[in-house]
Amino acid sequence: MAEPIAVPTLALNDGTAFPAVGLGTYKLNGDEGTAAVLSGLETGYRILDTALNYGNEDAVGRAVRETGVPRDEIIVTSKLPGRHHGYEEALASFEETRTNLGLEHVDLYLIHWPLPRIDKYVESFKALKKLQDDGLVTSIGVSNFTKKHLERVRDEVGVVPAVNQVELHPYFPQAELRAVHADLGIVTESWSPIGKQSELLTEQVILDVAAAHGVTPTQVVIRWHVQLGAVPLPKSGDAGRQRENLDVFGFELSDEEVARISGLERGRLWDGDPLTHEEF
Ligand SMILES: NC(=O)c1ccc[n+]([C@@H]2O[C@H](COP(=O)([O-])OP(=O)(O)OC[C@H]3O[C@@H](n4cnc5c(N)ncnc54)[C@H](OP(=O)(O)O)[C@@H]3O)[C@@H](O)[C@H]2O)c1
Repeated sequence: MAEPIAVPTLALNDGTAFPAVGLGTYKLNGDEGTAAVLSGLETGYRILDTALNYGNEDAVGRAVRETGVPRDEIIVTSKLPGRHHGYEEALASFEETRTNLGLEHVDLYLIHWPLPRIDKYVESFKALKKLQDDGLVTSIGVSNFTKKHLERVRDEVGVVPAVNQVELHPYFPQAELRAVHADLGIVTESWSPIGKQSELLTEQVILDVAAAHGVTPTQVVIRWHVQLGAVPLPKSGDAGRQRENLDVFGFELSDEEVARISGLERGRLWDGDPLTHEEF
């Protein structure tokens, strides 16, 4: 079997070492999902990104319990769904997540969407802080938050989220929000980092840069995230593609190549505006 890939780390604002690339797990369900996550761990992935709403915390947790990789090397991430916003609700939802995972503690727990119309994300984050204080969660963060949401949490809870996981890929490089994160000391995680099933991987600029480095288009895109300082969470259920996606530490893009790739910007690929998107 091939050796696991060694992945460099960044530091979260709570001191946690955080790998530069993680594994998305949306759609990795059941026995097949567990097998895919086990394969990801063997490949060298140490961040696993799940959510109560993915319906696969059981599959992910089983892989964490069955793998030979030490528990303290794995960053199990899950997320609080919209229907459970609120202080008590969030604490109860976390228990559901912990039971689904079959794990004592969760390494990174996020609020999945801010749902500003409901306006309970501040209370919910207070619950995350309580879980952290109680030692049940190591790091606490958010997903799909805007500058205003982040600042409110900082001002009203007194804690800056460790990460903000947002839609980010060359079609939507999020330069402004990344600058806000850098200012506040928040690590950016990129969801749908390779553009899911869009035509991103066949863009001429991506093909040209891939040919210049003798790597694949997907590796170019993942490397682009790494050089922006964002942590991409590519999802793959296939062992070969998992390895391809993590094997991005043996080449470097020039600043000019990074800029050319960012030039593909055209906006969000899905209807995921945090100010209006509601999912429960
Ligand atoms: N916080 C949020 O609101 C939010 C929203 C969306 C997603 N997420 C997280 O982000 C993760 C990633 O996003 P995503 O799953 O939407 O999209 P993605 O990672 O950009 O793309 C995944 C798709 O690309 C394929 N793929 C993977 N590696 C490939 C390769 N090397 N070459 C060709 N195709 C490849 C996968 O198929 P195979 O599996 O067959 O390889 C899958 O169809 C999710 O799994 C989830 O954990 C979070």
